[in-house]
Amino acid sequence: MRRLIAGTGWKMNIGAAEAACYGSELARRLALLDVSAVDIFVLPPFTSLHAASAALAATPVAIGGQNMHWEDSGAWTGEISAPMLVEGGCRYVELAHSERLYHFGESYELVGRKVDSALRSGLTPIICLGETAQEKSDGRTDAILLEQVLTALAGQPDSRVPDVILAYEPRWAIGGAQAATPDYVAERHAILRRNLKTHRGQDAAERTRIIYGGSVTPENGPQLISIDDVDGLFVGRAAWTPEGFARIIEIVAGAAQSKRSRQSD
Ligand code: PGA
Repeated sequence: MRRLIAGTGWKMNIGAAEAACYGSELARRLALLDVSAVDIFVLPPFTSLHAASAALAATPVAIGGQNMHWEDSGAWTGEISAPMLVEGGCRYVELAHSERLYHFGESYELVGRKVDSALRSGLTPIICLGETAQEKSDGRTDAILLEQVLTALAGQPDSRVPDVILAYEPRWAIGGAQAATPDYVAERHAILRRNLKTHRGQDAAERTRIIYGGSVTPENGPQLISIDDVDGLFVGRAAWTPEGFARIIEIVAGAAQSKRSRQSD
């Protein structure tokens, strides 16, 4: 059974002082919950990594970066490498977020190099996948998602595929008013998994976690996480307060229990 995930990316929000307060309030709230069945991550801006990781040190919450360079070091002004993230306490790194692709022109070929570097350093890459509104209306969504995932994983043997997390984040659903419908999400995740099986084998398909992001809230979260092929929730705005993220984590923890009992029936 795949462990469920609750994660949040803060984007360019929550500076170091605020991160320390967020972390200690989240730690206080998590102490009241049983979150042992859930993997939890927070992705702060680089300058807040230290404060967040110090405040969350006694909790099961792991920290990650929102981006990284593909080289370990060198003349790359303004960049941060995988070994630097590891040294900064990170266990995860987010790659290919739609804002990176759209505003900074990143490609999945580049993402593939970053995946390689992240795995070599022992980081878990969270690889975002998603179609634009135009690609959706052209009926190209599943082909686009397949191309993205195969390109990002091109340098990895099948046995390494389960070491990444795939985050399906339809670009039209990010930062908007509405998440994708549960039926739409269920279909995309099922097709992605089937495609993983065809192209990267049964083990990769069964073990790789595919999480959903894009306008997730405490209201739509329970239905989204109850979908069989949805292995976690990846949340922006609704988790930018410790109260908000604690609610999402509680929803995922509840789903972990019910999915487990559904499996053992
Ligand atoms: P949102 O952001 O939850 O605010 O839509 C999601 C994301 O960018 O990952």
